[in-house]
Amino acid sequence: MEGRETQRGVFVCFEGGDGSGKSTQSRLLGDALTGRGHRVLLTREPGGTPVGERMREIVLSPETGVLADKTEALLYLADKAEHVETLVLPALARGEVVVTDRYVDSMLAYQGAGRALDLVELERVARWATGDLRPHLTVLLDMPPQAGLGRFEGRDRIEGESVEFHERVRAGFLALAAADPDRYLVVDAHESREVIAAAVLGRLEDLLDRAVRA
Ligand code: TMP
Repeated sequence: MEGRETQRGVFVCFEGGDGSGKSTQSRLLGDALTGRGHRVLLTREPGGTPVGERMREIVLSPETGVLADKTEALLYLADKAEHVETLVLPALARGEVVVTDRYVDSMLAYQGAGRALDLVELERVARWATGDLRPHLTVLLDMPPQAGLGRFEGRDRIEGESVEFHERVRAGFLALAAADPDRYLVVDAHESREVIAAAVLGRLEDLLDRAVRA
């Protein structure tokens, strides 16, 4: 099934384990594109919208405690629906480059491979929640979980999961990328931030022609 066309803009998404450097790379890409005259929307999931930030707090706070797997998935899905409808689609329609820190693949990796919810069912509801909007390019910052999780002092609900959980998440991401190589750039997150940023820009070159410049 092909994803829906995103009109004029370009949709780029960063994925990877916790502590893999997605936020830094999203910011570096945003700065580079703004410097080239593109209009850029830099955003994240969960979050990005006022209600999304509140859902982020609920789903990540250790105070929330244990949730049923489906409850957790539905909270993330509500965030995605709001994010796509109110922020991402309007920006793409204006011809902007949307750079998001996490998207649907995080749900397939964390709630699918990590929590062991049925992947086919999960994909179906995630596509429904997002109107089947798919990124033009997903950049997967790959690293072993021990390396990424070591960067945190206080851990949230997800970061506090076992190393085995995070290993399944990593394998989940790699399987998604391997199944659709044209839409993914997989990079070793141990590379320097400059090397990674250059690889991302290089891969985006052709896609950027369709985006509007300021
Ligand atoms: P982060 O934005 O700091 O990476 O934190 C978000 C956390 O939420 C991270 O541990 C991954 C997790 N997550 C899911 O489990 N499912 C999702 O759909 C998304 C977007 C994030």
